[in-house]
Amino acid sequence: MRALAPSGDIEKAAGVLRAGGLVGLPTETVYGLGANAEDPAAVARVFQVKGRPPSHPLIVHIGGADQLGDWAADVPETARLLAERFWPGPLTLVLRRGDRVPLAATGGLDTVALRVPAHPVALDLLAEFGGGVAAPSANRFGSVSPTTADDVRTELGDAVDFVLDGGPCQVGVESTIVDATGENPTVLRPGGVTREDLEEALGRPLDVPTTSKVRVPGQHPSHYAPNARVVLVEPEKVVAEAERAQELGHRVGVFLPPALAGTPVQAHAVVPVPESTADYARVLFGYLRELDRQGCDLIVASLPAEAELGLAIANRLQRAAGPR
Ligand code: TXA
Ligand code: MG
Repeated sequence: MRALAPSGDIEKAAGVLRAGGLVGLPTETVYGLGANAEDPAAVARVFQVKGRPPSHPLIVHIGGADQLGDWAADVPETARLLAERFWPGPLTLVLRRGDRVPLAATGGLDTVALRVPAHPVALDLLAEFGGGVAAPSANRFGSVSPTTADDVRTELGDAVDFVLDGGPCQVGVESTIVDATGENPTVLRPGGVTREDLEEALGRPLDVPTTSKVRVPGQHPSHYAPNARVVLVEPEKVVAEAERAQELGHRVGVFLPPALAGTPVQAHAVVPVPESTADYARVLFGYLRELDRQGCDLIVASLPAEAELGLAIANRLQRAAGPR
């Protein structure tokens, strides 16, 4: 696949990184706010621009699985297997930190999160730049991750030196993070690579955090949150709950479950939840931003079944509905 951005843009972005600047970069999951991973001052600026506590580590994006040994001190057999199977792709591997990675990028940890993104523009940039790009999602701390270049500009404005436009993100939720420091990998965050795919690759079941056991509100720190408050109810109660809140004077946005497609709802705005979880993941963050733009103060949604990408979607919705 050929990159979408003009080659002049790739060179410009690589120049910005070399000069210690920050670049908004497309990946297949969400847009990142990138800095030269080996430049502690640039990395510090990422934390400052995001408003993120310096103890929250960043993901270092690299150009290929063949570079793993440059950035990780130790690569267990299982990690190598996962890298070979899923890279480039929406999988992040946590490994022992190699000497090349400054502590600034890992929040002082002795481990580093590494990922090869499956986006032609990101891969072109990594090849042109040559080093690692430390990049969290390009949103302010705690808000919704951006899935278009415009989202990045709206979210960060002049705080980012250059935004590479690679079109809308095709996966739409962040990467799956796997702690692969030992021979028994564990999932730290569900994401674009599904549990089912990981289990198939490993040939055994994986310990994955599910959201079903923590349906009680109050246990989740708010994250991925739009301005509007998010309320989660059973799918069959979405319409009644939305209309009740609208009646009470809220400006309600509704995530209408696929089973109710076409049902008229007395609400401020309605978005249709796609049938397939891959389509849903792709539009999820855009929907949250759109309902904010339309001035909704309350969003009523339900959790999808936690299979395939439904697990990551449920995780993001659950967190968006967490206490502020
Ligand atoms: O899809 C993605 O992963 C996107 C794109 C831009 O690559 N990036 C992303 O980054 O979601 P961010 O910073 O929003 O989330 C990274 C997560 C954080 O929750 C962080 O705590 C975790 O990765 N993380 C990073 N390094 C870690 C480490 N050494 N050990 C455990 N968790 C780590
Ligand atoms: Mg993030």
